[in-house]
Amino acid sequence: MFNRSSTPMMTSDPLIGDLLEKINTTYGIDFSQYSYSSLIRRISTFLTIKRIQTKEELINRIQHEKPLFESFLEHIAVPVTQMFRDPSYYKSLRELVTPQLATYAFTRVWSAGCSTGEEAYSLAILLDEEGVKKYRIYATDINHKVLIRAKEGIYDSSTLAEYHKNYTDSGGSRNFSDYYVTNYNRVIFDNVLKKNITFALHNLATDKSFNEFNLIVCRNVLIYFNKDLQNKVIELFIDSLCMFGYLALGKNESLFLTKFNDCFELVDKAEKIYKRIK
Ligand SMILES: C[S@@+](CC[C@H](N)C(=O)[O-])C[C@H]1O[C@@H](n2cnc3c(N)ncnc32)[C@H](O)[C@@H]1O
Repeated sequence: MFNRSSTPMMTSDPLIGDLLEKINTTYGIDFSQYSYSSLIRRISTFLTIKRIQTKEELINRIQHEKPLFESFLEHIAVPVTQMFRDPSYYKSLRELVTPQLATYAFTRVWSAGCSTGEEAYSLAILLDEEGVKKYRIYATDINHKVLIRAKEGIYDSSTLAEYHKNYTDSGGSRNFSDYYVTNYNRVIFDNVLKKNITFALHNLATDKSFNEFNLIVCRNVLIYFNKDLQNKVIELFIDSLCMFGYLALGKNESLFLTKFNDCFELVDKAEKIYKRIK
């Protein structure tokens, strides 16, 4: 599903431009519109962690060593996530968005930048509990390795206590343990949740719209992008949202500084949940 882009990298360090160009040519992933200051910082820590002496060495090795590229990808676009991460966000979805979705015969949701899938499973639980009749969640990410884990839906049990608390704080009133079984130190989410989720590769920077959605959830992803790419991705979301569909960005991101502010009505100021109005 990757498209290659020929956008030139405008940087003050030609080696960074060269590195990103080689990555795009070899793996079809274009980082040229990621936030430059954050790229510089992360590349520098990556060199230290991997004990790579120079950028030239990194450029040379990354083209031939796919595992090195895969760790680079995880270092640049960190796949940290949680079940019911930021419970107040899910609470707001329960109170302000799902009552509308529950009136539709079929609901389509896009979890963009879903990482290892906890966001998609949380949404499936939420939609089931709030009486959304039939639905499909399309959960996408740029990183194929996190999608493999997402499809399995198997997580480390050390996170369970926090997930139980998040679920309750999000307004969940059932027994959270009904949604999974444990096996030694692993938590395995119920197949019933999986049947309504499609996990797929999709690069927000270069791939196109692939459906029309009633709700798009994209959290902790736009922060990696520069302003131009943020605008481009919001435009992609507008193309992908049906009229009066919801865009739920969460606390860390906002439409405020993008040029599409007036296409949306604010639904929840704190949780940055918007409704498309034009
Ligand atoms: C910090 S995680 C956020 C996970 C989840 N949305 C959450 O808030 O818990 C960021 C995710 O965005 C993904 N990502 C980064 N750049 C992307 C792109 N261009 N297209 C799609 N996903 C991307 C990363 O691979 C990573 O899994």
